Amino acid sequence: APFRRCLSVQRLSLALLVLQNSILVMVMHHSRNSPTGTQPRYLASTAVLLVEVVKLLASLVLAAHDTRRSHPGASTSTLIVHLRHSIFAPDSWKLIVPAALYTLQNSLVYAAISNLDAVTFQVTYQLKILTTVLFSILLLGRSVSPRQWLSLVLLTAGVALVQISGPITPDDWLERLTSLLRSGTIPTTNAAKGLMAVVAASLTSGLTCVYFEKLVKDSMASVSLWTRNVQLSFFSLFPALFIGVLWQDGAVIARVGFFAGYSPVVWLTIGLQALGGLIVAVCIAYADNVAKNFAASLSIVVSYAATAFIFGTPPTLHATAGAAVVLLAMFLFNSRPTSRAMVLPLSQER
Ligand code: C5P
Repeated sequence: APFRRCLSVQRLSLALLVLQNSILVMVMHHSRNSPTGTQPRYLASTAVLLVEVVKLLASLVLAAHDTRRSHPGASTSTLIVHLRHSIFAPDSWKLIVPAALYTLQNSLVYAAISNLDAVTFQVTYQLKILTTVLFSILLLGRSVSPRQWLSLVLLTAGVALVQISGPITPDDWLERLTSLLRSGTIPTTNAAKGLMAVVAASLTSGLTCVYFEKLVKDSMASVSLWTRNVQLSFFSLFPALFIGVLWQDGAVIARVGFFAGYSPVVWLTIGLQALGGLIVAVCIAYADNVAKNFAASLSIVVSYAATAFIFGTPPTLHATAGAAVVLLAMFLFNSRPTSRAMVLPLSQER
C-alpha cells in the first residue's frame, strides 16, 4: 500500500509540474508582452526574494501539518518545540550548499536571459537534461543504458525543435549561433557572457537537484520533505536579500521602491514560481530528477500546443516533429530497463 501511494504521489506531482510549468510559461509570456504603459519593469531580485518568502511560509505550514500528524494529541506549544527542533536540527547546515547553488542558478538564469534572446536561452538551457543524468550517475550511482542515452539526446533535440518553432526558424537559430560564436557578440548584449551563464546554470541545475535528491532520500525516514524545504528556503533568504536585493539592486530600489512595476500578473508569476518550487521538491523526493526534467520538457510541448490552440495558429511542422520526438524519447527511456536502470513512472507495473 505505501508503494501504491508513493506511485500515485509520483504521478500526480509530475502531472502537476507539467500543468504548472505550462501555465507559468504562458503567464510570463503575457507579463512580458502586456502593455504596461510607462511603468518600469519589476526588478528580478525582488521577485526572487518574494518567491523564497512564499515558499518558506508554505513549507512551514506543511511541516507543521506533518508534525501534528506524527504527534497526535500533543499541545500546540509541544508541537512548536518539535517543529523548531526539526528545523534547527544539527544537520540543517547541509542545506546551505543547495540554497547557495539555487540562488546562484537563479541569478545565472537572469544573466543569461538578459544577454541572449529567449529562444537561444531556452534551447541552450535544455543542456540541464544531460547534466542532471551525468550527476545522477556520478553522485547517486545510477546507471543509464545506451538506449537511454539515445533517448536523452532525442529529448534534448525534440524540446529544442519545439522551442525554435517560435518567432525564428532553425536556420535563423543556427546562423545566429555561428555568427555569435565567430564574433563573440551580438548587438547590445554580451552573447558570450550569456552563453557562459546558461552553461553554468545548466551545470548548477544538475548538481543542485541531484544533491537535494540525495539529501532528502537519505533522510526521508527521519526528516520530512517539508522540513527540508523550510531549511532550504531559510538559507536562500540570505543570498537573495543581501546579494540580490541590497548589493545588486539596492541603489535602484532606494530610488524607485521595492514594488516598482508590480502588477497582478507579476504577483501571479511569483505565486506560480513558488508553487513550482514546491512541486519540484515533491517530484524530486517521490520520483527523481530525470523524471522531473521529462515533465518539464513535456510542459514545453503542452504550452506550445495550448498557445497555438488559444491563438488559433496551426502548429508548425518543426513543432509537431519536435513533440513527436519528445514523446518517442519518453517511451524509449523506459523500454526494456535493466534492474539498476532509472525508469519514468509511466506504467502501473513498475
Ligand atoms: O531548472 P531546475 O529544474 O533546476 O529548477 C529548479 C527550481 O526549483 C529552482 O528555481 C529552485 O529554486 C526550485 N526548487 C525549490 N525547492 C526544491 C528544489 C528546487 O524551490 N526543493
